[in-house]
Amino acid sequence: MSLILSIESSCDDSSLALTDIDSAKVIHHKKISQEREHSRYGGVVPELASRLHAVALPRLLREISDRYDDISLVAVTSEPGLSVTLNEGLMMARTFALFKGVPLISVHHLKGHVYSLFIEKESFFPLLVLLVSGGHTMILKVTGADDMEILASSMDDSVGESYDKVAKMMGLGYPGGPIVERLAREGDPDRFDLPVPLRNSPLVSFSFSGLKNAVRLTVESLGGAENMSEKDMMDLSASFQKSVIAHLIQKSKKILSRTDIGDFAIVGGASANMAIRGAFSDLCSRYGIRMHDVPLQYCSDNAAMIGRYALDIVREKRLPEVGDIDITVSGNKKVKSGEKL
Ligand code: KG4
Ligand code: ZN
Repeated sequence: MSLILSIESSCDDSSLALTDIDSAKVIHHKKISQEREHSRYGGVVPELASRLHAVALPRLLREISDRYDDISLVAVTSEPGLSVTLNEGLMMARTFALFKGVPLISVHHLKGHVYSLFIEKESFFPLLVLLVSGGHTMILKVTGADDMEILASSMDDSVGESYDKVAKMMGLGYPGGPIVERLAREGDPDRFDLPVPLRNSPLVSFSFSGLKNAVRLTVESLGGAENMSEKDMMDLSASFQKSVIAHLIQKSKKILSRTDIGDFAIVGGASANMAIRGAFSDLCSRYGIRMHDVPLQYCSDNAAMIGRYALDIVREKRLPEVGDIDITVSGNKKVKSGEKL
């Protein structure tokens, strides 16, 4: 057997996977999440995250020690993300690859999210991808493994980040996405009149900071989180989610209405949100576009998507020489429309 060992540590998940090069099957995938440790801070604390990775990653690696001989390639997330946590994965990957004498591929985290669509499946192009994660919100035109053009992106916060901040304002835990989605399910989306960002602007971009501020003002008008009832929280979550979806749909429509690409996908941590998925599935069927999404276990950060990206690099015969390590760590640099990932 010839396996790809893939490692992901760009934020608060330590994850490791083994992908069989011949069958494309993920034969091992494990993730140690740090959500509980960061929850009391209402967000990820980078230094704490890097220390937790330093403990978790070697543990994950030791668990697959009986497969070391089968590993013929190492793939690791190199950017974007938190530099201190990326470094933990990079160090372990580089050491393992050099010691074993196998090539090392550095993988762009957002390209990994796109490739989460293709885990245990064939890749296909072209397609439009809405990426909604904790760090990014953008629409990409994807025509190949290294051909991903940004058609629209957020000018400030991301979708996942705004869910996290709304949960924090209401005194709830981290990550906020699943909590706010659960509350929204029971709430009245018309109780609070929150703005739909950039509604009257011709810009094909996203923005969530104004909406987030409107939520903050609403929390204050209700006397602060400590004075909000569960019903208030449900209604505010539902009203917030309604504006998020209206905004995502309004801007995506501008792209979908004039494309000749017949496939659209939604990826990233926030793509686990059933209300967002449902709205996009309706939109796509209106335009006769096929909609694709990712199995829930692979929406949030995971190493299987990094392995899947590396698999296409193997198939395209673009492997680096052993010891030839091309690693750039750009941190969370802002990316703009018109640029490539
Ligand atoms: O892709 P991901 O695991 O990490 C990044 O690359 O950022 O995304 C994590 C983000 C968090 O902000 C989390 O709150 C959000 O995804 N998220 C959700 C849901 N589940 C996770 N946002 C909205 N609704 C959800 N159900
Ligand atoms: Zn991610």
